[in-house]
Amino acid sequence: MKKICVLGLGYIGLPTSIILAENNFEVIGFDVDHIKVDRINNSDAVIQEPEISSKLKKVLSEKKFKAVKEIESADYFIIAVPTPFKVNNLEKQADLSYVWSTVEFISQVLKIGDTVILESTVPVGTTEELARNLELSTNLKAGKDFFVAYCPERVFPGKIFYELENNSRVLGGINSISAQKAQELYIKFVKGNLHLESSIFAEMIKLVENSSRDAQIAIANQVASLAYKVGIDPYKLISIANEHPRVKILNPTCGVGGHCIAVDPWFLVESFPEQTELFKKSRQINDAKPYQVLNFIKEAISKWKLSNPNSKCKMAILGLTYKPNVDDLRESPALLIAQELNKIAEIDFVAVEPYIEPEILNKKYNIKTEKLENALNDSNIIICLVAHNYFKNLKNLLLKDQIVLDFCGLMHEKDYLNLEATKTINFKSKYDEK
Ligand SMILES: NC(=O)c1ccc[n+]([C@@H]2O[C@H](COP(=O)([O-])OP(=O)(O)OC[C@H]3O[C@@H](n4cnc5c(N)ncnc54)[C@H](O)[C@@H]3O)[C@@H](O)[C@H]2O)c1
Repeated sequence: MKKICVLGLGYIGLPTSIILAENNFEVIGFDVDHIKVDRINNSDAVIQEPEISSKLKKVLSEKKFKAVKEIESADYFIIAVPTPFKVNNLEKQADLSYVWSTVEFISQVLKIGDTVILESTVPVGTTEELARNLELSTNLKAGKDFFVAYCPERVFPGKIFYELENNSRVLGGINSISAQKAQELYIKFVKGNLHLESSIFAEMIKLVENSSRDAQIAIANQVASLAYKVGIDPYKLISIANEHPRVKILNPTCGVGGHCIAVDPWFLVESFPEQTELFKKSRQINDAKPYQVLNFIKEAISKWKLSNPNSKCKMAILGLTYKPNVDDLRESPALLIAQELNKIAEIDFVAVEPYIEPEILNKKYNIKTEKLENALNDSNIIICLVAHNYFKNLKNLLLKDQIVLDFCGLMHEKDYLNLEATKTINFKSKYDEK
């Protein structure tokens, strides 16, 4: 039985360890966060993901998986450590320090015949650099004594186990035998296609995929800006535009967050500054979105103040995570908006966030939380930032005359695409009044 060592037990590394263990590999998960290691060994999955708790419990009890604090020798090493930006770096260059620290650990135990697979998202050329660094610290020859491949991850939080099995994968070797070694592993649990390509191809495809998603989101956000300018509901505009058989505009949101789409395009810009104007502009448009939303909110507060000069404006913010139905706050535009609102003295707000412990929001971010009904009952303005399924019933819970600012499409009517609705006049013009 092949032994696999997964380095980094986060959103990617832990589910990957579990699926490999379920497929009868002997798996150890190495993490520098020793508290996390203990929690995982005590069946605490650490992240929120459907099925993860029961799956973790099972592979631990069957002794197919354990988390470890010291690196051990293995046949395959899978690197799933963070790759954020460098702190305070205006160019938003990749911070590869976590990847390079895995080189120090792996080189302690790397032996002839082993394969090292990088799954973290990285700038183009990093896998070859990883191979060179491993050569330097072991005196073994990459591509001959040991093998190195880049196998990017495409999973969607909330559907990770399904997608780990069913998504197609690109397996990018530094040479052909490295790609084949990767294939021998992934073929055991992936039902989708396995494309054996070079590591450069695999690095490029991961960055292109997320940059293209970011550019599509930028289109949606730009359409929203246009629509707001003339008082049109952007969600309605987009839904009806999408009835065109060849148009598919995404729904606008309060910005782009998370560990991937808000970060990865910058790695492409870093590698190819001359060829990435569109991706850079899209990043700038999407980064500006939370500040536009803030301006809308401030305008609404000022308007409310005009008719209520002696009262403090009470607000409810619905959703703080970086996208719906996840417990992840990384790079969250909704959290940024809430933190900015926290600085405004003449308002009082509470947040409703079903996926994060109230204590974390209170202690770490100084944000008060409330139950949905209480928050709604006690607010003058409701701000919808994240379209969690939990808020689906919102319309029925609102009080009369409450101001609702919807930046995630929670309130938008889907009825206008019904046959009946298409026969009614849906607008009022100043010419009608003449
Ligand atoms: N989260 C996603 O949905 C997703 C999707 C595709 C790709 N990715 C990429 O996968 C990589 C990992 O992302 P994540 O969301 O799982 O990160 P994460 O922060 O959830 O987990 C990373 C883990 O690595 C550990 N770690 C850091 N340095 C280490 C080291 N030297 N050795 C061992 N462990 C170490 C950390 O303690 C942490 O537990 C990133 O490059 C990310 O861009 C993430």
